[in-house]
Amino acid sequence: MGTVLVTRTLPDGGIDPLVAAGHEVVARPDDEPWTAAELAAVAGDVDGIVCLLTDRIDSEVLQRGATGRLRVVANVAVGYDNIDVAAATAAGVTVCNTPGVLDDTTADLALLLMLAAARLASTAEADLRSGRWDGWSITGYLGRDVHHTTVGLVGYGRIGRAVAARAAGFGMEVGHTTRTDTGVAGWTPSLNDLLDRSDFVSLHVPLTAATRHLIGPAELARMGPDAVLVNTARGPVVDEEALAVALEAGTIFAAGLDVFEAEPAIHPRLLAAPRTVLLPHIGSATTATRTLMAHRACEGVDDVLAGRTPRFAVV
Ligand code: NAP
Ligand code: GLV
Repeated sequence: MGTVLVTRTLPDGGIDPLVAAGHEVVARPDDEPWTAAELAAVAGDVDGIVCLLTDRIDSEVLQRGATGRLRVVANVAVGYDNIDVAAATAAGVTVCNTPGVLDDTTADLALLLMLAAARLASTAEADLRSGRWDGWSITGYLGRDVHHTTVGLVGYGRIGRAVAARAAGFGMEVGHTTRTDTGVAGWTPSLNDLLDRSDFVSLHVPLTAATRHLIGPAELARMGPDAVLVNTARGPVVDEEALAVALEAGTIFAAGLDVFEAEPAIHPRLLAAPRTVLLPHIGSATTATRTLMAHRACEGVDDVLAGRTPRFAVV
């Protein structure tokens, strides 16, 4: 049994695997976010940490933790760019995440963004709510069709494949790019090739040094004035300034974004840009999925503290 810090309140029943295994769960009574410095100050006093993607688990947290009792950090997320994995490896701290349980929920949201962006849903609803809609118009809110178009998936892992399955239901032709050949029809090693032939581009890569600003001015220029960009991956995969410029100039048609470069701050130019659908990082936000994610992270911590190999370890 160990002491496990859970950085924020999880969905109801989320910590059940820790409680059932007899671990002592500690948390801040005020449920305020932790700074990295605050986490570093306590990391050595606990055996495990269950954290969120908004927590920064830097080398200081990991080194000071490992100097004390810390053996495992589990992110309640599949993406783990908030954790210094190299520092964790060096410190001998296991890092766990929650792959698999959120694929369908996140893919649903990617489709929602494709549809909403292409059909100008946010603009139309904002007009209706503010009294600017003055009746049906033959030329009002003319969007782009989603069905029977081509979607290019950047990243074809768990979530990318779940998006592909949904897109097929809309009669879309699906292409994808990854670094390694997937062996699946529609693969191309070239991002530019994918951008050239896609009406919709949907991002499903992790945030790494290689994917930061993967979509910048040159990539947006290739997409064309009818194209729609969807990002449910991580904000910094897109150069937001360049995207705002492209939307203002009409060199791409629309964008649907669930993630942003400096969350929760939103680039002011993007906020004002036309034909955008902006959601506050809710890709996995259903009660069922967030509960499963919490369970998966807690199970990872329990596995490590019990001396078992965790099912989903990053390192
Ligand atoms: P995954 O199964 O690991 O798939 C990642 C895909 O990206 C793989 O196909 C990988 O193929 C490809 N990739 C990695 N680096 C690449 C590069 N430099 N260029 C081209 N392709 C690259 O991951 P997942 O579970 O689908 O999740 C993907 C990401 O979605 C997560 O990391 C997270 O950041 C984000 N996410 C967001 C939400 C949300 O709430 N909006 C929810 C869940 C996940 P190769 O390695 O062969 O290149
Ligand atoms: C959410 O963004 C995740 O990575 O799980």
